[in-house]
Order: sequence, then structure tokens, then C-alpha cells
Amino acid sequence: MQTAANIVQSNMGKMPTVVNPQYKHREDGSTMKALAWFGTNDVRMVDAPIPDVSEPDDVIVKVTGTTICGSDLHLYHGEIMALQKGDILGHEFMGKVDRIGPNVKNLKPGQRVVASFQIACGKCKFCQQKLSSFCDNTNTSSLQNYMYGTRDAGFFGYSHFTGGFPGGQAEYVRVPLGEVNLLPIPDEVSDEKAIYLSDVLPTSYHCVVDTGVKEGDTVGIWGLGPIGQCCARWAKIKGASRIIAIDQVPERLAFAKEQGYEVIDFSKEKDITKKIHELVPGGLDVALDCGTFHEPKTLLHRGMKMLMLETDVPETVNEMITSVRKLGRCGLIAAYAGFTNGFNIGALMEKGVRLIGNGQAPVHKYWKEILQDYIIPGKFDPTFMISHRVPIDDMAKLYVAFDKRISGVEKVFVETQFSAPSSEGCPSVSRVDSWKS
Ligand SMILES: NC(=O)c1ccc[n+]([C@@H]2O[C@H](COP(=O)([O-])OP(=O)(O)OC[C@H]3O[C@@H](n4cnc5c(N)ncnc54)[C@H](O)[C@@H]3O)[C@@H](O)[C@H]2O)c1
Ligand SMILES: [Zn+2]
Ligand SMILES: [Zn+2]
Repeated sequence: MQTAANIVQSNMGKMPTVVNPQYKHREDGSTMKALAWFGTNDVRMVDAPIPDVSEPDDVIVKVTGTTICGSDLHLYHGEIMALQKGDILGHEFMGKVDRIGPNVKNLKPGQRVVASFQIACGKCKFCQQKLSSFCDNTNTSSLQNYMYGTRDAGFFGYSHFTGGFPGGQAEYVRVPLGEVNLLPIPDEVSDEKAIYLSDVLPTSYHCVVDTGVKEGDTVGIWGLGPIGQCCARWAKIKGASRIIAIDQVPERLAFAKEQGYEVIDFSKEKDITKKIHELVPGGLDVALDCGTFHEPKTLLHRGMKMLMLETDVPETVNEMITSVRKLGRCGLIAAYAGFTNGFNIGALMEKGVRLIGNGQAPVHKYWKEILQDYIIPGKFDPTFMISHRVPIDDMAKLYVAFDKRISGVEKVFVETQFSAPSSEGCPSVSRVDSWKS
């Protein structure tokens, strides 16, 4: 699939952008540690050239914290198109400003910043509304433009389908248009509290707000990774009265139960819709998809995916549509990439279900609000989801462990040689080899 996608993309040429994904290397030839993709289930630590200012609006960030996301697993499994051998992955990171281009006025070397996972131009009609993930000007992918009719913003470390920008699972990152795509972090906010402003916090918040969770709603959440766990918290903050949480990972279900949510283990409960209608007669007000399209539940869809008859599976979406009440709302924040078979279009139409593609989350719309109104006053402490801290040398092993969800792994803080020691109450460093499987 990757070879075909890369050939099609290269034949189609590139869409115009205001930033160039290629970076200049430091003149002294110095290198850094980085995690790169080499094939399906094959990621490796490499020594890569340290980036230098390549365009006048660039900022080079010295990374003090990075992580792995459920979205990285789609890349790991080769489910996102147009990956190329040697691509540096990672789209959630923070650090200190190392070097700045001549146009950068609001940031200084040494300043602590968090990056948004998307690279936005700051000027187009979407950026003017802070809808940064929908920016029109930063993604060269003609393939995405052909498949979707338009294209997303460019993303860090997320294949050439989203612009081919080297990512943040590295010791240094070049951030194009740094004034737009970096948020300064006050000294009193620790790295562990700030880093997830890159993605997980705005993403989960966006899912809850965009799907319209309101006072008194009963909300079903499919998938209890970091996104699902944060969605549950935001839903409660927005007044949800009940949370029904669905997954099969024992530690994730146990944690959800501790929080007071009702849980369904889908490895034991075969008919999720029936179970939900037993628990909530008439159905859920809202259903949120925080799962993953690369783990088919049924033999039928496993087969169709294997035969390339579909790229994505509709199982979760179908369960959500049949589990909500008439005129219920379904939000898709889980990533999807292409096409699916057996979608229950009849139930969608007949029940008047509002099916909302939440899109890739527009980080810029929410990150200041979340920092100021929730993190600083202590109303939302993101460190609840950090299960482990590991050194960047373990990044390749972390992909294997995170994919298998061993040792109760939830969100991981990945440190570099530039990181501060772990903060009080947060996990201290461990090696992936020592985790229990
Ligand atoms: N739209 C965005 O901007 C955005 C940003 C970040 C992540 N995401 C997406 O959100 C999703 C969740 O991310 P994460 O980091 O929490 O991932 P994760 O892989 O840690 O968690 C996914 C969870 O879904 C569960 N799951 C799988 N199949 C299921 C099913 N049929 N029913 C119920 N649960 C099921 C898994 O057991 C797992 O616990 C991913 O698809 C990711 O790509 C989207
Ligand atoms: Zn992510
Ligand atoms: Zn823009």
C-alpha cells in the first residue's frame, strides 16, 4: 500500500504550501536521537541530523518531553498512506526554544513551549477561526486532496499524507511558523501537565464539545485509551450524568470503574447494543468513538481488511448508531483513513442520528482555554493518565508495549537528555524491558 500511495502521490505532484517540510541540517553535522519508521511493525531509533532554522519563521525546539499516541499505532501498523522509510514520527512534544528564525518576535531562546500536533499558517479562513487542523496552506498531499476533496493541515511526524514533516519523537524538532504553532508555558506548570496540550487534551475536549455533550446526558465511550479517559472527564465537567465505558483491556476497564463509570467488557459482552439498551432503556444521548480502526472485531471485517476490500472497519460506528436513542448524537474523534463496508446507513437515517466527524482536533481553538481555565486552577489534572515514564532510547520498544497494552500502559511521558526530573506524584523513569507483560 505504501509503495502504491507514494507512486500515486509523486505522479500527482505537490499541492502548494506556505512551508517546506524539508529542513536544513546544522552546519557542524551534529546528530540527535530520533524514532523513525521503516515498515509495518518496524520502527527504530536512528541518529538523524539536528535541524537548523530553514525558513525565517522557524523555531528549533530542544525537546524536554515527548510521547506516543494511539494515532502512532496506525502508522506502526502501516494503516496510514504515504509513509516513507526513515520518516521521523511523533506529533506531541514540548521543549525549550533553541534557535529562532529572523521573523520570530514573540519567543526567545530558553523559553518553555508546547507544540500543536498540526502546523497551521495562522492566516487562512480556517486559521482565522483557530481551526488550525483544517488549515488550507501547509499540507502538500495531492493524494489526500484527491481522496477527500480538500486536505487537512500538515502534521508533525504523520506520513507524507499529512505533509511529510519530521516529528517530535526526537531530541530536536524544527517547528515551521513557530509563532503560530507554539504555546509558551508558564514556569509553574510542569512538563507533565503541559505536554498533552499538544494533542490529547484539546482532542478529547473538542470531541465532547463538538458532539454537544450537555447537562444530564448519558454518554457512551468506545475505547478507554488516553483519549477515551479524558473524554469521560470532560463529559462529566460538561454535566453528563452517566458514563458507559466500553473496552476490553482489564486495567483500562478497572480504572474507568474506579472513576464511577459503568463499564462493558466487549471481549465478554458480544452484543453491545443489547447491553446498552438494557442499561439505558431507549438508548444513549451521546456516543463517542475513541477506539481504533485497525482492530477489527469480527472475522468478516478482518477478512475484508486483509483482502484490501476495505481500509477501515464500521463496527464501532454501527454499534454507536444502534446504541443511541432516536435523534441521538455520535461523534468520531477516533482516526479513520479511507473506506468501509457494511455501514448501517438505514439506522442512521431512520433514527435521525446526528453523526459528526469531529475531524482532527483544532488544537489552537482550545489550548489556551484548557491551560488557563482548567490546568492552572487545578480543575483538570492531566497527570492522572500518565502510567509510565521512559527514556527516548526506549521509544522503539515502547511502540511494541503500547500496541500490546502491557503493564497497564496508558499515557507515557518520554524523557530526553534535556528533561527535568519527574515532578512530584508523577511516575519516575523505568525501562520498557522491565515492564510486566
Ligand atoms: N481526531 C484527532 O485529532 C485525534 C487525536 C489523537 C488521537 N486520535 C485517535 O483517537 C483514538 C484513541 O486514541 P488513544 O491514544 O486513546 O488510543 P489507544 O490505542 O491507546 O486506545 C484505543 C482503545 O480502543 C479500544 N478499542 C479497540 N476496539 C474497540 C471496540 N471495538 N470497542 C471498544 N473499544 C475498542 C482499545 O482496546 C484501546 O483501549 C485513536 O484512533 C487515535 O488515532 C484522534
Ligand atoms: Zn496524537
Ligand atoms: Zn491556515
